[in-house]
Amino acid sequence: MALKRKTSDLKKRMRNALQGGGSKAIEKQKAIGKLTARERIIALLDPRSFHEYDIFVEHAAHDFDMDKKRLPGDGVVTGTGTISGHPVCIYAQDFTVAGGSLGLAHAKKITKIMDHAMKLGVPIIGINDSGGARIQEGVNSLAGYGEIFYRNTQASGVIPQISVILGPCAGGAVYSPALTDFVFVVENISKMFITGPEVIKTTIGEVISMEDLGGARVHAETTGNAHFFAMSEQECFDQIKELITFIPWNNQKKADAFPKKAPRTRTYNIDGIVPTDPKQPYDVRHVIKSICDDSDFFEVQELFAANIVIGFARLKGETVGFVANQPLVLAGVLDVDSSDKAARFIRYCDAFNIPLVTLVDLPGYLPGVDQEHAGVIRHGAKILYAYSEATVPKLTVVIRKAYGGGYIAMCSHHLRADFVFAWPTAEIAVMGPEGAANIIFRNEIKNAENPEEVRKQKVKEYKDKFANPYVAAAHGYIDAVIEPNDTRRMLIHALEISSNKQETPPKKKHGIPPF
Ligand code: HXC
Repeated sequence: MALKRKTSDLKKRMRNALQGGGSKAIEKQKAIGKLTARERIIALLDPRSFHEYDIFVEHAAHDFDMDKKRLPGDGVVTGTGTISGHPVCIYAQDFTVAGGSLGLAHAKKITKIMDHAMKLGVPIIGINDSGGARIQEGVNSLAGYGEIFYRNTQASGVIPQISVILGPCAGGAVYSPALTDFVFVVENISKMFITGPEVIKTTIGEVISMEDLGGARVHAETTGNAHFFAMSEQECFDQIKELITFIPWNNQKKADAFPKKAPRTRTYNIDGIVPTDPKQPYDVRHVIKSICDDSDFFEVQELFAANIVIGFARLKGETVGFVANQPLVLAGVLDVDSSDKAARFIRYCDAFNIPLVTLVDLPGYLPGVDQEHAGVIRHGAKILYAYSEATVPKLTVVIRKAYGGGYIAMCSHHLRADFVFAWPTAEIAVMGPEGAANIIFRNEIKNAENPEEVRKQKVKEYKDKFANPYVAAAHGYIDAVIEPNDTRRMLIHALEISSNKQETPPKKKHGIPPF
């Protein structure tokens, strides 16, 4: 009898806790197309796999009448579950409870589940929907954020950290996502900013809407703070589920192997993708799809710095990270944003034992005052650093242009690529034939009777001598010149024989990359 009474008391307490901020707040949440915190977790995880902890945690604050306020679960839901059978730790902020604001108890729930994730060696997923530091709790809220940031940093490169932005995330609420590996945003729902429109208007007089300041598109296209953009919460959860299949649980493991599948070559025929005219653009994603298993390429940061393409795919069932210049956008040049984008991805793959495949076709770094003043030297150096530092198998294919700094930066042998292949269409030189001829034959062209004729002739001379892969191959900088339709076979073989690659970097506490 006593057990029955106690069980019914437990059920009553659970029911109260599960109501979150109450029906009115939940209705408000739904009216703007948002799910509640628990609904989100259930939609993301495998059916019936979610196990919630710390449901009865409450705050102990008393200033500003806080002692009179009950905040169920202190505004955050935490627990464990699985995605496609993979274990994960998860938390979701509950906006219906004090706007998901972060007080000390709320922070302690998050740091506890983060500590679990580290101990268990599994990904941590944070669903963020929060007004930031809980104002009434003062410095205790700031302490809570500090504890989260510290753990984000300790966990970096050890377990995958995934942030999902599903509401207005202001102040401290945006810095934890910024420290994590992948940030997901949803059109019209996600907002991220350090200070909101009101504060901006008061302090510096600028007027801007929340959406224009820090909406999903702004972060997916302009700032690069977001890695994945979705049109609905459900699409966002599907993206996360797919990502989880490509990455390992922790840095001691490899990603799950999948059954080998041939590319869909009827749609992506490698021989027909790249135009013979080196000035004609093409979509490098088609080349990737013509090489990888099942033509299944999972692109990361698709909308940001589109002159470089990064993402996950599989070769003979094994996850690899592709980094490829995109001739379709700005001729595939490297610039400030594309260098940042690629460098971070290279470091992610290296930290999580994911081999790198680099496809090269670029005229070099983007010239111009804007780029120089935006710090292209410092940002461009990041990609050199990331490739040089990476010890996972590194395979490179030069498709067409590999000029100047771009040749070196895109994982050349000099940055310790393990294998560098080139198609017969490759052009490896200090710069393009036109530019080179104009400089080294300047006087001859200027003094000629028919300068244009001589210029053309000199360009051809330079092209014949250098615009091919054979000079580099003669020096051993290219391991093999291959036919395009041999690319997949060569990469798979190179991957197989690199599987026991061991490289010991010089002993140091850590390097100092050009952050
Ligand atoms: C306490 C908060 C809160 C906060 C929201 N609420 N943010 N309570 N601390 N930071 C409460 C509201 O009072 C309200 O309570 C409920 O949550 C819902 O909020 P609304 O304003 O009604 O919702 P909405 O209109 O959708 O606006 C959402 C919002 C707005 C844009 C997030 O609430 C807002 O601007 N909040 C403050 C954002 C901010 O400046 N945060 C920075 C904190 S400083 P009731 O009881 O009325 O339902 C910070 C520094 C950390 O984070 C630095 C670390 C590096």
